[in-house]
Amino acid sequence: MFRHWKGLLAAGLAALLGGSALWARFGETGRLVLRREEIALPAATRPFSIALFSDTHLGRHGDAQTLRRVADLIGEQQPDLVIFAGDFFDSYDRDQALLDPDELTAILAEIEAPFGKYAVWGNHDRGGGAHRVYGEWMERGGFVLLQNQAVQLPELGLTLGGVDDVLLGRPDYQLPLGDQPLRLLVCHEPGPAEIRFDSAHLILSGHTHGGQVGLPLVRRLFLPPGSGSYAKGSYPLGDGRFLQVTSGVGVTKVPARLFDPPEVVLLQVVPG
Ligand SMILES: [Fe+2]
Repeated sequence: MFRHWKGLLAAGLAALLGGSALWARFGETGRLVLRREEIALPAATRPFSIALFSDTHLGRHGDAQTLRRVADLIGEQQPDLVIFAGDFFDSYDRDQALLDPDELTAILAEIEAPFGKYAVWGNHDRGGGAHRVYGEWMERGGFVLLQNQAVQLPELGLTLGGVDDVLLGRPDYQLPLGDQPLRLLVCHEPGPAEIRFDSAHLILSGHTHGGQVGLPLVRRLFLPPGSGSYAKGSYPLGDGRFLQVTSGVGVTKVPARLFDPPEVVLLQVVPG
């Protein structure tokens, strides 16, 4: 009798593990959720919204449909600003036959935001041959690529800075963040960004993919270098400053996600 139950238990466990693996590979990666966050910042002079997305990793595990879902979800939110935090490609030289620049940049161009669309470099846009095309593709899609540059958006009371990728580019850690009341900085990797840009009231990053496994303790094992101690979410940094990390849209290396669905973040910034 006992042996019978042991066999049933083993079969149940195997089915659970197999089901989880199948879901992680083919189910979760095809989802896209909207994560809403409200951040109260003492330096903000008026409320505004930002659609933040990152790490699409287009190529063999992400295609035009992936980007289409992102563009449609952002379009439904009607954000004031759109920010892409890097890693548009997974491995450009390996995957370029799968990537149609006309199709992908047309989808990017459909995304609308009254105060503009901005992007920064990710390590996968610097490596894998992507550096040759990334800037041009973003421009064709209507995105301003901030490579150690800051733009002034006085209607929002905002300076928006973006730096080059930390791992494979040349980030300017001294980038002046202008004279608007609120200073926002976009940097692909959150770990070094949190340490280096202490004059920014709000830092936006991607890169971590949330570890691609959203289980406490386990997640930490799968965070890539440059993540620091950050995986996903809103992190208070003290003195009314915040770091917001998105776990992104796509996958890299292992084409699976578990308890960590692809996401777009809708940030509502309010005076606090
Ligand atoms: Fe990435």
